[in-house]
Amino acid sequence: MMDRWVDKVAVVTGASSGIGDAIARRLAKDGLKVAALARRADRLQALEREVKESGARGLVKGYTCDVTSESDVDAVFKKIEKDLGPVHILVNNAGVSPQANLTDMDLANAKVMIDTNITAVLSCTKAAIASMKPNAAEGHIINISSIYGHLNQPMSIIGLYSATKHALNILSVTTRSQLKAENIPIRLTTVSPGLVKSEMSAGFVDHLKLGQYVLAEDIADSVAFAIASPSHVNISDIRVEPVSDFKY
Ligand SMILES: NC(=O)c1ccc[n+]([C@@H]2O[C@H](COP(=O)([O-])OP(=O)(O)OC[C@H]3O[C@@H](n4cnc5c(N)ncnc54)[C@H](OP(=O)(O)O)[C@@H]3O)[C@@H](O)[C@H]2O)c1
Repeated sequence: MMDRWVDKVAVVTGASSGIGDAIARRLAKDGLKVAALARRADRLQALEREVKESGARGLVKGYTCDVTSESDVDAVFKKIEKDLGPVHILVNNAGVSPQANLTDMDLANAKVMIDTNITAVLSCTKAAIASMKPNAAEGHIINISSIYGHLNQPMSIIGLYSATKHALNILSVTTRSQLKAENIPIRLTTVSPGLVKSEMSAGFVDHLKLGQYVLAEDIADSVAFAIASPSHVNISDIRVEPVSDFKY
């Protein structure tokens, strides 16, 4: 079922580490042309090279981009179209989670989190749909949310992060409804991980065992599953949690 996506262009944001890196490698292995976006150019170059050396069916091409800058996003989507062709898949994965109690939070950090976890999703989605609409017979948007986007009583230090992921879930439902109403063949899936071993969770996961956290590759598997599903099926929401409990 993944064969229909071979040679199609997938944009993955936040591909320089963790879940985004794993998704980029997985989609390239399955034969897609992956535009990998992040700010750290050295990481993107290493990813590009490693995927090439792995003999993957597809490829990764890195693009430095700060997704919180609308002009960066617009410019990078134009460049991707020119280099690789029209976009068929967008994975909105870039995210940050600086933790602080809401009552004494540094508002500059709060703004960065809102800009990265929400506003950047809006600008990348807008740019991707503009590329998909005229050219793509079929498109797919994957929004990487979180289990914290479903919890109603998160700890205070994770309160704003949880609010951004709740917002992302609502925006996803609304965008999907709009695409359906307009009969545009672009599917939209949210994937909500529990604790995943990555740079974001370093410090929490160090004293835990596999099973109290999952791996970035496990999330990439779910993304691939949603994309590979038949074109008449929209996998709307996937939650991926560790099998065991843990305490912070
Ligand atoms: N780890 C978990 O337990 C967990 C659980 C649930 C959901 N999630 C979600 O999964 C997604 C990925 O997280 P992760 O765990 O893989 O974290 P990570 O390893 O810290 O990766 C975050 C990625 O986002 C990129 N990024 C951050 N700000 C950016 C910006 N302004 N412009 C472009 N790229 C930016 C980073 O790249 P650069 O720094 O190079 O720009 C990096 O590639 C996030 O949306 C997160 O909320 C994570």
